[in-house]
Amino acid sequence: MCGIVGYIGTKQAFPILIKGLHRLEYRGYDSAGVALINTDKRLNVYKAKGKVADLEQVASDKDISGTIGIGHTRWATHGEPSDVNAHPHISQDEKIALIHNGIIENYETLRSQLEAAGYTFKSETDTEVLVQFINYLMELNHTDLCTAVQMALNQVTGAYAIAVIEKGNPDTIIAARKSSPLVVGIGEGEFFLASDASPFVEYTQKVVYLNDEEIAILSRGEELKIKTLNNIEKTPQIKLLEMNLSQLEKGKYPYYMEKEIFEQTKTLKTCLSGRINLDCDNIAISGFFDNKERFLNAERIVITACGTSWHAGLIGMYAIEEFARIPVTVEYSSEFRYRNPVITKNDVVIAISQSGETADTLAAMEIAKNAGAFVFGICNVVGSSIARLSDAGCYTHVGPEVGVASTKAFTAQVLVLQMLALTIAKERNCISKDRFTALLSEMNKLPKKIQTILKLNDKLEAFSRTFTYASNFIYLGRGYNYPIALEGALKLKEISYIHAEGYPAAEMKHGPIALISEEMPVVVIATSSSTYEKVVSNIQEIKARKGKVIAIVTEGDDVVSKLADYCIQIPNTEECLSPVLTVVPLQLLAYHIAVAKGKDVDQPRNLAKSVTVE
Ligand code: AGP
Repeated sequence: MCGIVGYIGTKQAFPILIKGLHRLEYRGYDSAGVALINTDKRLNVYKAKGKVADLEQVASDKDISGTIGIGHTRWATHGEPSDVNAHPHISQDEKIALIHNGIIENYETLRSQLEAAGYTFKSETDTEVLVQFINYLMELNHTDLCTAVQMALNQVTGAYAIAVIEKGNPDTIIAARKSSPLVVGIGEGEFFLASDASPFVEYTQKVVYLNDEEIAILSRGEELKIKTLNNIEKTPQIKLLEMNLSQLEKGKYPYYMEKEIFEQTKTLKTCLSGRINLDCDNIAISGFFDNKERFLNAERIVITACGTSWHAGLIGMYAIEEFARIPVTVEYSSEFRYRNPVITKNDVVIAISQSGETADTLAAMEIAKNAGAFVFGICNVVGSSIARLSDAGCYTHVGPEVGVASTKAFTAQVLVLQMLALTIAKERNCISKDRFTALLSEMNKLPKKIQTILKLNDKLEAFSRTFTYASNFIYLGRGYNYPIALEGALKLKEISYIHAEGYPAAEMKHGPIALISEEMPVVVIATSSSTYEKVVSNIQEIKARKGKVIAIVTEGDDVVSKLADYCIQIPNTEECLSPVLTVVPLQLLAYHIAVAKGKDVDQPRNLAKSVTVE
């Protein structure tokens, strides 16, 4: 939540910051701001409630010159979205400007301390407390900015990625992180700084991911310096980016979400490639093979994640238990971290996260690691905090996912979990050679089958318009497709603001059936499966109560097709792999309903792509 960006070099900073903020808007978009130091060494700060475009408007007739600057796009935690609560925040003497992603937990204590020392505050934010505190320590100790930042951070609790600049000093940006992401880009005579590498991908491929409690000193004309809060110098570990500019552009699509739904044929191929061999009798997941014994000796596997990644985890549980016969539990990271769970060194904990920065999932991993469990991460963002905290892991490799509603990351997470389940099963001799090969060759066919489903886009768009009236939806699925009912409902809720609930189909008669009426659209996943007939009975029950049924069925189905009001036929596949297909029409349904309702699909209200606060 919140995106931060910084630049120091030979170019004008403002256009770089603005472009960078647009790319980081997925992290928060309720207000934005920049601070620049011009050639007269003056500090100019511009802020605006709303999106980055509103900030551009505000700054359009102002002095935006300067080759050093910092910028911020906000997702409010402390204080409502407003001009005054927007970042950068400045110290009372207007000398220091600071941007922040995270939460300073002891800000109230610090604020009282500063008020007693005569400081006054303009905003309700924890960030303003931090910048005033740095200013206070600088004055009190007659020290430089970097030392004051270091002293301040040694006294704050919470999470932060910050960047700080100082009036009169156009040659230095000080940055630091703890539990919020921060990456430095190293160009020719210039440095970039951002929450992820997207703001500077066209300028440099050389990056340094800061570690927790590290401070980076970005000085004009000098090498990058990194030191810890305890003043220990570190050699910057330079990595090369895997991202490219075209992955960050929408291309012909009006929204990133649509682009990302359509990309799934390609992303699933990338996710599979190099993992399943030509004969379909082997899967290469290096993170698994390097730590095979931990998996094979596991008494239990605990999967932890949030939101959509948690839904993928549920499918992982079904697959690991079915094929590998190891008991699995799936935990919301936010619950797991606070409920004093029993974890032992014989447990394997799988953490799933697209962003790799979700605060609750990171905290759950820490708990598991402290208890001696082996932690395996499934992440999309290379070099992210979760990827680095994991003992081993596997990337989904779907490229940057920009739309706030997760789509292509989800299908790849499901596929990675399926590959992991089959790998463990094979190593434990729980699956026959033929069955293993059959499942792998079917996995290879999934990208083509998604292509077939995407051809139904126009049909889905047309009937989506019928449902813009609805204020509630029910989604039903069973077995492997129960998590897809949850995921379909989440997609609709988050981008169209229509209330939607997902249930295991058989649970309907235990309560939700009371909601069924002519007004109620019910999406039922009724593809061919071991419980198909039972799902058909559920559809009969809905029709008997005049509910509107939208059914996802397998090609050639002539039973449900006659019962349902709207029917989407998708290619047949193995039951365990069906979620990778059944979710696609539900992604498109949610997308088209939201677009028809005029919603901002990529930046739905109140949400942020990367939830770095608990
Ligand atoms: C998905 O559409 C959501 N926006 C959200 O539930 C998301 O999946 C969740 O916040 C977890 O994020 P992560 O995968 O980056 O950890």
